[in-house]
Order: sequence, then C-alpha cells, then structure tokens
Amino acid sequence: MIKVENLHMHFGGIRAVDGTSLEIKKGSITGLIGPNGAGKTTLFNVVAGHYKPTSGKVFLDGEDVSGMQPHELFAKGLLRTFQIAHEFSTLSVRDNLMMVPPAQSGETLWNAWFHGKQVRDEEEKLRIKANEVIEFLEIPHVADELAGNLSGGQKKLLELGRTMMVDAKIVFLDEVGAGVNRTLLNTIGDAILRLNTERGYTFCMIEHDMDFIGRLCDPVICMAEGKVLAEGPVDEVKSNEAVIEAYLGTGLKNKPGAQA
Ligand SMILES: Nc1ncnc2c1ncn2[C@@H]1O[C@H](COP(=O)(O)OP(=O)(O)O)[C@@H](O)[C@H]1O
Ligand SMILES: [Mg+2]
Repeated sequence: MIKVENLHMHFGGIRAVDGTSLEIKKGSITGLIGPNGAGKTTLFNVVAGHYKPTSGKVFLDGEDVSGMQPHELFAKGLLRTFQIAHEFSTLSVRDNLMMVPPAQSGETLWNAWFHGKQVRDEEEKLRIKANEVIEFLEIPHVADELAGNLSGGQKKLLELGRTMMVDAKIVFLDEVGAGVNRTLLNTIGDAILRLNTERGYTFCMIEHDMDFIGRLCDPVICMAEGKVLAEGPVDEVKSNEAVIEAYLGTGLKNKPGAQA
C-alpha cells in the first residue's frame, strides 16, 4: 500500500532520513522501531506530507504522492497521529471528533450560506458518526468531558478516534502507547486490532514498548541513523545483531576484548 523509495530528508547537515526504502503491506500492522533520533518521526512527517523530501519517492497504492500536502493525502485516506496529542482542549470529546473534516464533503461556502438545512443534516451525520466512534472506543463516560481534562492515555485514544471519523485506509501512529498506563494501553491495542480486522485499516506504528509491538505488529521494521537496519517478525528483528548494537549505541567498542 505504501512504498518508500530511497528517501532522504536532510535538515542542513543532519541526515534525519538517509536513504530509507521500505514497504507497508495492505492489511498489515507494521511496527517501526529504532533508537531515539533514528529518523522515525521524520519519515512519518515526509510520508504524511508535512515535509517535502530532499530526494526519493513515496507511493500510495502505486500513485506517486511524494511532496503532496497533508490535506491531499488525508483525502486519499492517509492519516497520522502525533507523538504529542493535538486535541482541542476547550472542546468536549464529542466536539473534537466532530471537528475532523469529512474527507469527501463537497461542502462549499455557498452551501453553508444558502442551504442551512443541508449544513444541519451534515452536522447531524457527524454527531451520529462521533457517537459511533465513542461507542467503538468504549469511552461514553468521557464523551461530554473537555478534551483538556483527559489523561494522556485518553488523549491518545481520542487521536485514534479522530482517524475513525473519515474513511481511513492507512493510519500512521507515532508513539500511541507512550506514557499510557497498562489498562489503557490494552484498550488502545484492542481498538487498533479491531480497526485492522473489522474495518480493514492498515497501520504503521512507531512504538518503543516491545510487548505492545509483539502483540500487534507483523512485520517490524527497525531504523537507525536514517536507514532501515532490519525487517521481519518481531522476534527475528529483536534478536538481530545490528539492531541490538544500534540500541546499545556503542557498537563494537563494547564487545569484550575490543579496543575503545
Ligand atoms: N525539523 C527538524 N530540523 C532539524 N533537525 C531535525 C528536525 N526534525 C528532526 N530532526 C533531527 O533528525 C533526527 C531524527 O529525528 P526524529 O525523526 O525525530 O527521530 P525519532 O523519531 O526516530 O526519534 C534527529 O537528529 C533530530 O534532531
Ligand atoms: Mg519520534
């Protein structure tokens, strides 16, 4: 579904993404791991259209989407969540969900001025959809709560919920489990699995919690220093020598008998 070809994203002298090639298969939950600074978030930012790549290409369902704007990709069903949740803190959870623009609305200013009923119908549809999402995520108890009052984990769940307001095909999750307690992490994991199996969502998720990754992801891709180091089933990647060294960050120097 996604193909990244020899992608580079440089910031001055920093090669955040330095010749990454990878594929994300339709219907998969692909994990993206790697030490801090590996270039994972930057890769997401390029794929989701926030940065124009220095060079290289991104394909979505075979179409070259390199350098497209986030809203264009959004309309094609490519969505992302952020490492830091982006909620509207003074709006309720339900209103936050309703703020997500419908991808194929066809809504125009003219419609808004002259077709009040149409706008009200649209809003009613959004409300029904938001209530479905609230039901699906099992969060009716916080539906009317201000989003700013949610716990960190609940905000992550809301981010996931926002992707359900439109017809998402592929969702990029950036550390959706970071700082989330076990119980809520299980809820988020269950929601991801159900979206994958029941609604056909493809996921690519950056994550550090290896148990969480092991439960959800196949395959797992490991990046370090802007490049792909290894790809495969989680256990294979976890035991890959280059991956272990990248995480230790000290490479051969740390091996017994090696010169520092
Ligand atoms: N907008 C930016 N400007 C300059 N450097 C950046 C920018 N974004 C990321 N970087 C640098 O790129 C590298 C990769 O960062 P990042 O993609 O956030 O890694 P990860 O998500 O794997 O921890 C880091 O060295 C980071 O400091
Ligand atoms: Mg990151």
